[in-house]
Amino acid sequence: MIDRDHDLSIVRQAKVLKLARSTVYYEPRPDSHVGPRATIGQSCILNTGCIVEHDCVVGDFSHVSVNATLAGRSRLGSFVFLGAGATIIGRCSVPDGTVCGAGAVVTRSLAVSGTYVGVPARLAKPSYQ
Ligand SMILES: CC(C)(COP(=O)(O)OP(=O)(O)OC[C@H]1O[C@@H](n2cnc3c(N)ncnc32)[C@H](O)[C@@H]1OP(=O)(O)O)[C@@H](O)C(=O)NCCC(=O)NCCS
Repeated sequence: MIDRDHDLSIVRQAKVLKLARSTVYYEPRPDSHVGPRATIGQSCILNTGCIVEHDCVVGDFSHVSVNATLAGRSRLGSFVFLGAGATIIGRCSVPDGTVCGAGAVVTRSLAVSGTYVGVPARLAKPSYQ
């Protein structure tokens, strides 16, 4: 269902939040939150209930799944996938092409791209495998 008022509020937010025009909010709902000075790249998906806290960065073509949280001025590269409920905290950098599994908690910058799972997140599969 199209909620015109909510769509308009996203457009207004986009001007303030540097939200790229092609960013998609799936099922736009007020419980998705993008904080002040967050930067969202082009063609990102910010899914239902996700949180991108103030000063965080979501790189181009990245997907922040349902209830995932990006906080603590963390930065996602491009083509990053954050699984449902994944949490990135504490000024972490997540390299391009990284997958963080559902429920993963990343507390340190990730040196190499790959699939990370668990709490704290561990490298389950490097990208080249
Ligand atoms: C992380 C993920 C992408 C891994 O998929 P995969 O590459 O097929 O990996 P596998 O299923 O072979 O699992 C690899 C290992 O990680 C473990 N693992 C996979 N996902 C995990 C998770 N979310 N948390 C903890 N461990 C996980 C597996 O048990 C396996 O462990 P093992 O090697 O000790 O047996 C997938 O499990 C996942 O979490 N996807 C997120 C889906 C999602 O959130 N969708 C949102 C839609 S809005």
